[in-house]
Amino acid sequence: MDFAILHLFVLVLSVLCLMICALEFDPVDNYLINCGSFENITVGDRVFLADNLNSTQRVFVNTSLESIPSSYSSNLYQTARILDEVSKFKFSIKKQGRHWIRLYFYPFSYGNFNLSTAKFSVSVQNFTLIKSFQSLSGPLVKEYTLNITSTSLVLTFTPFSNSFAFVNALEIISLPDELIPVGIGTDSLRELALETVVRVNMGNVAVLPRNDTSWRSWESDERYLTSRNLFQFVSRIQAVNYTRGGPSRNIAPPSVYGTATRLQVDDPGVSVNITWLFDVDPGFDYFIRFHFCDIVTGHNDPNKVGGDHELLFNVYINSQLASRDLDLKKKTSNVLGSPYYMDVVTRLKNIHSIGISIGPAGVDNAYPDGLLNGLEIMKISNVKGSLDASDAEIQSSVPTSKKTTTWLMIGSTIGGSIICIVLVVVSILFCRSRIRTAADDSTEENHTAVGAKEASIVSKSNMGYLFPLVAVQEATDHFSESMIIGFGGFGKVYKGILKDNTKVAVKRGFHQSQQGLAEFMTEVEMLSQFRHRHLVSLIGYCNEKNEMIIIYEYMENGTLKDHLYGSDLPNLNWTQRLEICIGSAKGLHYLHTGSHKAIIHRDVKSSNILLDENLRAKVSDFGLSKIGPEIDQTHVSTAVKGSFGYLDPEYLTRQQLTDKSDVYSFGVVMFEVLCGRPVIDPSLPRESVNLVEYVMKCLRTGESEAIVDPRIAHDITPESQMKFVETAEKCLAEYGADRPTMGEVLWNLEYALKLQKTTQENEISDNQLDNSVLSTEYSMGSMADLAGVSMSKVFCQMVKSENKDSCDIC
Ligand SMILES: *[C@@H]1O[C@H](CO)[C@@H](O)[C@H](O)[C@H]1NC(C)=O
Ligand SMILES: *[C@@H]1O[C@H](CO)[C@@H](O)[C@H](O)[C@H]1NC(C)=O
Ligand SMILES: *[C@@H]1O[C@H](CO)[C@@H](O)[C@H](O)[C@H]1NC(C)=O
Ligand SMILES: *[C@@H]1O[C@H](CO)[C@@H](O)[C@H](O)[C@H]1NC(C)=O
Ligand SMILES: *[C@@H]1O[C@H](CO)[C@@H](O)[C@H](O)[C@H]1NC(C)=O
Ligand SMILES: *[C@@H]1O[C@H](CO)[C@@H](O)[C@H](O)[C@H]1NC(C)=O
Ligand SMILES: *[C@@H]1O[C@H](CO)[C@@H](O)[C@H](O)[C@H]1NC(C)=O
Ligand SMILES: *[C@@H]1O[C@H](CO)[C@@H](O)[C@H](O)[C@H]1NC(C)=O
Ligand SMILES: *[C@@H]1O[C@H](CO)[C@@H](O)[C@H](O)[C@H]1NC(C)=O
Repeated sequence: MDFAILHLFVLVLSVLCLMICALEFDPVDNYLINCGSFENITVGDRVFLADNLNSTQRVFVNTSLESIPSSYSSNLYQTARILDEVSKFKFSIKKQGRHWIRLYFYPFSYGNFNLSTAKFSVSVQNFTLIKSFQSLSGPLVKEYTLNITSTSLVLTFTPFSNSFAFVNALEIISLPDELIPVGIGTDSLRELALETVVRVNMGNVAVLPRNDTSWRSWESDERYLTSRNLFQFVSRIQAVNYTRGGPSRNIAPPSVYGTATRLQVDDPGVSVNITWLFDVDPGFDYFIRFHFCDIVTGHNDPNKVGGDHELLFNVYINSQLASRDLDLKKKTSNVLGSPYYMDVVTRLKNIHSIGISIGPAGVDNAYPDGLLNGLEIMKISNVKGSLDASDAEIQSSVPTSKKTTTWLMIGSTIGGSIICIVLVVVSILFCRSRIRTAADDSTEENHTAVGAKEASIVSKSNMGYLFPLVAVQEATDHFSESMIIGFGGFGKVYKGILKDNTKVAVKRGFHQSQQGLAEFMTEVEMLSQFRHRHLVSLIGYCNEKNEMIIIYEYMENGTLKDHLYGSDLPNLNWTQRLEICIGSAKGLHYLHTGSHKAIIHRDVKSSNILLDENLRAKVSDFGLSKIGPEIDQTHVSTAVKGSFGYLDPEYLTRQQLTDKSDVYSFGVVMFEVLCGRPVIDPSLPRESVNLVEYVMKCLRTGESEAIVDPRIAHDITPESQMKFVETAEKCLAEYGADRPTMGEVLWNLEYALKLQKTTQENEISDNQLDNSVLSTEYSMGSMADLAGVSMSKVFCQMVKSENKDSCDIC
């Protein structure tokens, strides 16, 4: 193309851009309805019209303004429309494209109607927005965006039988085209619905709808910050300079770009992250938009050590790098104060919170600094066309969380005075990056290196474990489908029968990834080093022809989980359940203390506790296990792995792994055992979905009887239950330091068993119990549990010192 023509083209485009940017947004479709009211009402700079929705039903209810918590839109909550049959509202749409749908709910009581008891679902076109409305006590605005491609929009309220629906106000407005991208990377958002989870303005200031061109509400970020003193709030609204080609006011207003939360570091040698934590529903993808604007450089800050320096930082999502060495100056072609935003789509299926962190760049000499101006998180509708938490695609039964590779799709728009063509080109060239942080990779490498070293020590005795592939094929009838006894993220588990008629379980990994291989090796190493009555024994392994096969002892009775719920296996009584807990606690206690360095299991859950023909518990699945910290360190830093619902919150937020993370997970298992229900049960009402939250709530309100599995309620004694609950609760302490050790848990469980067995007969004093449980049974027990064949020397020493006795197995 001729250069002059290109130049002209650029000029025309720039002018166009400028015109578009300068225009205040004026929605073509704009329905604002004050439901249940005969009057128009003004909220901010807009008028919500009296309710003239076409419906055969016209039940209007109202409440006094004083009863409503005062807020920007309190006026809207004063009235509501009641719908006691399926009601469809049709709005004609003039402009195809994305629209906001905002629904206002505030449950009050009026005559016979108690809106708190309403139960209903809401859908738009073919998307489920709400499947079963649960009234919260306070006012609530739900915000959605849909791409409307027809000439009408149909909003449907469906009350449950014997119930009714209500709505206090609604908005349907077209939104600026530029606001939501049609796709990110190769992912199209065109046909998907989004729900706003959270929209925050950093810098500890809320922004009201009237200050946003499409009337979005921005919360203050303060309540989401996880640390208290590593940041400072900055406000410099005049510093924002919207430039041609950059994001416009429609993307975010000056009051968002002009305030920020910034890293506050007084000592350049100290390195910290700022982290915000947001609750999300597991089982969905999320659209995350970061808003940045350098409002700090060039404004010498008296409070900021280090004067003016390069603003360079990393951005993380749940510890995964979303942007490395982000340099706003580069992104905005050196225009200070020019806004910049970055879009990311997460594929983090099994998380229940999103942690956003800003941290110093890895570049040498970079002064630790960084900031964030605004953040939006939107839930993306799933394949069922639903946004409701109960329609989540949770994979909790399959331990895929550790195998699923996490993908973040990243797109971004540049600001600055770059010509529009560049903008167009760049917005097409989204970079797509697979997220595995450098830190993660290196810990993984270290880990394998450690493993390899230890493997060389045990490799001689390992030789006996190596099985030829033909023997495995023979045992499993050539991996016959009829021999399959389980599935997992790693592959299939087969039942096998060896030549000598021994039954075995054969775990066959998908032949593939490095990660899979690392986990396979870890498991073989762990298992060949450790033998314990309460750890599943290794019989052999096979790595011929790229196969990754591990052969274990066969556990006749399957997983603990299957005995607790979701199957028709006979009920376990309380004593059996306690004994299973004790067995698994012994296994874990041994892992934690059985060698010079603790082994952290990392994936303790009821489906990893197996039961043999006598219902004796054995801990299995060591694919994620890690060697614990050196004596002089308190934790191992590592990427978060494990199973959703069982993850230690401290580990989740700080990535610091200790043996107390296993204790937390074990506490969750204990409640699973007591309550006989899954850790996450999306079919339950929202407040009961998460077992831990539900149990904690019941314990706080003193309803501890309510949580007990009805099938054991008759045989559990109150004393035993109390001891058990008290112990499990301690395991779930927020901080690892406050949790008991596995040894203490074990002691308490044995105590609970004693209480169960002896309560009916006679009372025994605590002292008697102390002695009988601890010094005799427990230490004898641990000695007897050692089915030691190839114990390491170190371990023998441990046993010797513990028993002050000779260890003749060595
Ligand atoms: C509400 O406002 C609309 C449009 O401005 C007007 O036509 C209507 O008469 C008003 N209704 C009431 C009850 O004031
Ligand atoms: C209003 O609703 C009635 C019954 O639901 C329907 O017959 C009528 O066509 C609707 N009118 C408009 C304008 O939608
Ligand atoms: C509800 O509306 C009726 C009729 O408009 C009015 O008389 C009454 O005072 C209102 N009640 C409250 C609590 O505002
Ligand atoms: C309305 O129902 C809720 C939940 O069922 C209850 O807590 C509340 O007391 C009820 N309010 C009135 C005024 O009856
Ligand atoms: C809306 O959907 C239509 C048809 O699929 C598509 O052409 C258009 O780009 C979409 N718009 C947005 C903003 O996603
Ligand atoms: C918000 O809007 C109001 C009026 O529309 C204006 O007075 C105020 O200064 C704005 N606030 C900010 C932070 O922009
Ligand atoms: C905004 O940036 C442009 C450079 O693109 C500069 O010419 C202009 O003076 C700046 N405006 C303000 C108010 O700083
Ligand atoms: C910030 O968080 C990331 C991800 O968790 C981590 O890799 C990094 O080391 C942290 N930086 C600091 C200084 O703590
Ligand atoms: C909803 O309908 C549109 C057009 O009729 C279709 O493209 C889209 O796939 C449907 N979505 C779902 C979740 O069924």
